[in-house]
Amino acid sequence: MYQDHFSLSASSPAGTAPPAAPAPLRVGLLGLGTVGSGTYAVLQRNAALIAARAGRRIEVRMVAVRNLARARTVLGEEPGTPLLTDDPQALVCSPEVDVVVEVMGGTGLARSLVLQAIAHGKHVVTANKALLAEHGAEIFAAAQARGVVVAYEGAVAVSIPIIKALREGLTANRIEWVAGIINGTSNFILSAMRERGLGFAAALAEAQALGYAEADPVFDVQGTDAAHKLSLLAANAFGTLSQYPQVQVQGITAVDAADVAFAEQLGYRLKLLGIAKRHGTGLELRVHPTLLPESHLLAQVHGSMNAVMVKSDAAGITLYYGAGAGAEQTGSAVIADLVDLARSASLAPAQRVPALGFASGVQPGLPVVGADDVESAFYVRLDLSRPDATVPRVLQQLAADGVQVQRMAPHPHPSDPELRCLVLLTAPLALRTLRPALQAVEAWPTVLGYASVLRVESLA
Ligand code: HSE
Repeated sequence: MYQDHFSLSASSPAGTAPPAAPAPLRVGLLGLGTVGSGTYAVLQRNAALIAARAGRRIEVRMVAVRNLARARTVLGEEPGTPLLTDDPQALVCSPEVDVVVEVMGGTGLARSLVLQAIAHGKHVVTANKALLAEHGAEIFAAAQARGVVVAYEGAVAVSIPIIKALREGLTANRIEWVAGIINGTSNFILSAMRERGLGFAAALAEAQALGYAEADPVFDVQGTDAAHKLSLLAANAFGTLSQYPQVQVQGITAVDAADVAFAEQLGYRLKLLGIAKRHGTGLELRVHPTLLPESHLLAQVHGSMNAVMVKSDAAGITLYYGAGAGAEQTGSAVIADLVDLARSASLAPAQRVPALGFASGVQPGLPVVGADDVESAFYVRLDLSRPDATVPRVLQQLAADGVQVQRMAPHPHPSDPELRCLVLLTAPLALRTLRPALQAVEAWPTVLGYASVLRVESLA
């Protein structure tokens, strides 16, 4: 096994006793699945290096799991192996534990255990975005009242230290927007559809086999997971609590391979983006498949990788890129939180970095702008019969309704030789303006429903 050369024992002058080693930070691990195992492996492998950075050792003292036999194969039998239990209640109140790492997932038992841990004065580190998106207000309030930390770097874009970037690195800035590819599974699927021509189902099966997807992959492909993460990014960017219920969410389940190809021919890539943006005195909070110019940096993010771009007034545009899923990748973020705790646990709560980045003035929420009022350019695909007669009428109708068409491209229909696909790119406008125009066109017998309406962003 790799051994590094870091040591915590300070050299002492000849004849004097060496100073006592600082007390370790004692960890209780709730869950030893993908993330728990990855966290444990990195903590073991890099123990001395991590201790040298943290100023004291970080030791897993207890692990609570459902399946003890499986956990024994992960932990081994060597001396110093943590105490293994199938009683998570015992772990969250154990006097042998300073910090509870919640990597079991879910929002039922996990919520209850995290609140119990806080009530027992334990700090909490979690990678559970659903838990914090849905119950963050309750959990952060409980932690504040008890004077303990709830840290969650692993909950958003796992390997990317984006929470630290927003609440510490960019702390001087008024943030205008945050936009990111924050679901690795969806990005993997869209990349596989574009690069290898895979269908949606085959690409999802690969993502599951590679371990990127949530236990319930519906969360990934319907945009729920990205909405959970976006609500945490927005909270840190704009000084609000999580506004997860107000995020407008559209996933990738209805994405048609033909649109991926047509977008590419127009010079665009289709990405599932989470966007949080100032809009007057409110916020846009949205997750949806989005066309990005192929030269945009976010359009270069392939496979399960994630990236988050931030526009702020002083720093300008900054970009953060890294693995969006994975055992040790998430472990890296969980351990970063543990190191922060090892350094700061003895500080008074007011001296620590605030959980959501604002020491005061955190608001319950800002008004969220409805989807109809969010402006962007649009990609519209209409499937037509008798295109020679229908296309001019479509363009006339759109113009009459105030929709400016900037580009137009006809294509053969992917499955029906009797039909043509008309692809249009509009100038920026509100969905409120586009919708009635499309509804009028859709009513014609030669238009077979509007097949696809996708937002186009320049994020310049
Ligand atoms: N299922 C998540 C994703 C894992 O695909 O991004 C990391 O949160």
